[in-house]
Amino acid sequence: MLKKDLKEFDINAFKDFEESFAIVTAGNRTTGPNGMTVSWGGFGRIWDKFVCFVFVRKSRYTHEFMEKTDSVSISFLSDNYKKEKIFFGRNSGRDCDKFKETGLHAGFDPDLNMYIISEARRVLKCKKIYSIDLEFNDLPEEIKKMNYKDDDIHTMYICEVKEYLTDEE
Ligand SMILES: Cc1cc2nc3c(=O)[nH]c(=O)nc-3n(C[C@H](O)[C@H](O)[C@H](O)COP(=O)(O)O)c2cc1C
Repeated sequence: MLKKDLKEFDINAFKDFEESFAIVTAGNRTTGPNGMTVSWGGFGRIWDKFVCFVFVRKSRYTHEFMEKTDSVSISFLSDNYKKEKIFFGRNSGRDCDKFKETGLHAGFDPDLNMYIISEARRVLKCKKIYSIDLEFNDLPEEIKKMNYKDDDIHTMYICEVKEYLTDEE
């Protein structure tokens, strides 16, 4: 994959998160990687930095990795990998090695001490800079009912994008 200027990242956040989702991989050399599918998140700019943000429920195994390390990558895979993306979203790293089961590879980046998915078409290599748990009591009733009946709240992570890689010319 080629390293490109961050400003060349041209994902349509609405379409790509909704229709083909992404895989968040958290963890460093010490912890090893764990990844999960995400379809809630976005990209933007704050504190003079390019950032992406993702929402990870506290029950996810990936949440533990997000808390322990600041290493986070967001990988967008083509729909040829739909089955694998669904696997990452339906199974927990607590119960199986998702990389082994799907054949996807977690490539290690020694410079940033993080893992990315080698088969991805586009990857954002990020460092977590801020996180906060959504406050259940502050949410609109409709959203509480639809999304948090089981009290499994999301943590919002704001991550600084350090590098953008793509296999597209
Ligand atoms: C299409 C799709 C999108 C998902 N998006 C999210 C998300 O944005 N946030 C989240 O916490 N879970 C999301 N999930 C659920 C997690 O990917 C799923 O619970 C996963 O098995 C967690 O793995 P882990 O326990 O190894 O972290 C999504 C699942 C699918 C299938």
